[in-house]
Amino acid sequence: MGVTVADVEIVILPSLDEAGETVAARIAGLVTAKPDTVLGLATGSSPLPLYRALRQRVQQGLDLGGVRGFALDEYIGLPRGDERSYAATIDREVTRPLGLDPARVHVPDGAAADLPAAAAEYEAAIRAAGGVDLQILGIGTLGHLGFNEPGSSLASRTRVKTLTEQTRQDNARFFSNVEETPAHCLTQGLGTILEARALVLFASGEAKAAAVAAAVEGGVSARYPASVLQLHPHVTLYLDEAAAGRLELAEYYRYTYAHKPAWQRDT
Ligand code: F6R
Repeated sequence: MGVTVADVEIVILPSLDEAGETVAARIAGLVTAKPDTVLGLATGSSPLPLYRALRQRVQQGLDLGGVRGFALDEYIGLPRGDERSYAATIDREVTRPLGLDPARVHVPDGAAADLPAAAAEYEAAIRAAGGVDLQILGIGTLGHLGFNEPGSSLASRTRVKTLTEQTRQDNARFFSNVEETPAHCLTQGLGTILEARALVLFASGEAKAAAVAAAVEGGVSARYPASVLQLHPHVTLYLDEAAAGRLELAEYYRYTYAHKPAWQRDT
């Protein structure tokens, strides 16, 4: 186990497949040390290389049956069991392929009659699990983390949010059209996400480049919710070349990663 150096680390790679391997190896290390490791789970396209790499390890014998999981967010307005809900997505893309125990995987209840109560229960469940060991993240085109859209309090907890038109357009690919894409969600807050012991964020493609640059090279501001990452002591951003395309200090980040001492590695 390497020495953990408190920092925001930026890793630029030709493709996120390699990042998926790296983080899968890190998760394997965590689970070996603590079989009931608590993972924070993201939906969307960005973490798929990680889930693929983990699946390969599971096929080779890694046992994730004791792992506990908490999803970041869920739509409001979809019936329970809807295949487009994040509960169904996590079940299909994470829980089943990775052999997680469905009883240990939690998703905010966007179909609850009392949404504030469901939000409070979700926070309590994360606390009762002892907090998240490793939170997996993507980033929105406008800089959201979870579904914390611009204007989110940097101290926010799990709650109802209204999705931006941009997010609805980005996610319309999972629905028939934008109008059918839910406008509201239950999401972990930025304050909730910051309490995870470590964060890993995946971003690929040019569409994410502005949000990534604002997150790590701009000021900390609710205008770009992902800029709250700068307040966390142990964050790794895995970016492909296109997502890193607007970083002023890209060369420095490349040098730093290429010369990272062995004792500084996470696994
Ligand atoms: C997903 C989530 C979102 C996504 C983000 C990026 O649970 O909370 O923040 O991570 O919208 O989505 P993709 O990866 O599909 O580009």
